[in-house]
Amino acid sequence: MNMDTRHKKIIKIVQEKLTCSAHNLDHVFRVYNLCLLLAKDEKDVDLEVLIPSALLHDIARVEESNDKTGKIDHAILGSIIAEDILKYLEYEEDKIEKIKHCILTHRFRTGNEPNSIEAKILFDSDKLDVIGASGIARTFMLAGQFGQRLTFDDSLNDYLKSNTVENGRLKDVSRHTPFIEYEVKFKKIPDRLYTRKAREIGQERIKFMEEFFNLLKLEIEGIK
Ligand SMILES: [Fe+2]
Ligand SMILES: [Fe+2]
Repeated sequence: MNMDTRHKKIIKIVQEKLTCSAHNLDHVFRVYNLCLLLAKDEKDVDLEVLIPSALLHDIARVEESNDKTGKIDHAILGSIIAEDILKYLEYEEDKIEKIKHCILTHRFRTGNEPNSIEAKILFDSDKLDVIGASGIARTFMLAGQFGQRLTFDDSLNDYLKSNTVENGRLKDVSRHTPFIEYEVKFKKIPDRLYTRKAREIGQERIKFMEEFFNLLKLEIEGIK
């Protein structure tokens, strides 16, 4: 089976699995595009590892969202589900191991560091997608879905103490806001990226977000 056929088959599987959550599917394709962009700036990137990793990285997202116990980690489960798909598509054993590593390490919380160039590119692309203009659009879409407000009244520290539980999970997602997400999470992203190009894009994206949230704050306070 050639590379193109395999990728098409993976896309079909991912589309079927993520149809119930359109934003996840769109995110997968944005991450795929970013991976290709970052790959151009690096040497010796194996696209036979990177492309399936990008397409499959959130394959277990729905399972994690539906899990009431909070124990499912989509990076861990995703690497297991991906293995079955890749075996079915007759990928070589060493490619399967490399792709599994990329999926397992794509997430901040898992505690596993990406150690190949493909894993670093996937990690960076996944993080870049939550910042910048698309990051703003995405957090406000989620905010609408969860009935969140544009602003919040508590101090940030009081809010974080009262609304977060183990693993940084939120007790009440409706009390969260895109502004808090920006303050506690997004701002720190560029410094945590691995590749040169991603850090450059990350800084530009954060600059734009900062301008946006500063203006939002001034408008809410009636200053501008
Ligand atoms: Fe993910
Ligand atoms: Fe993702």
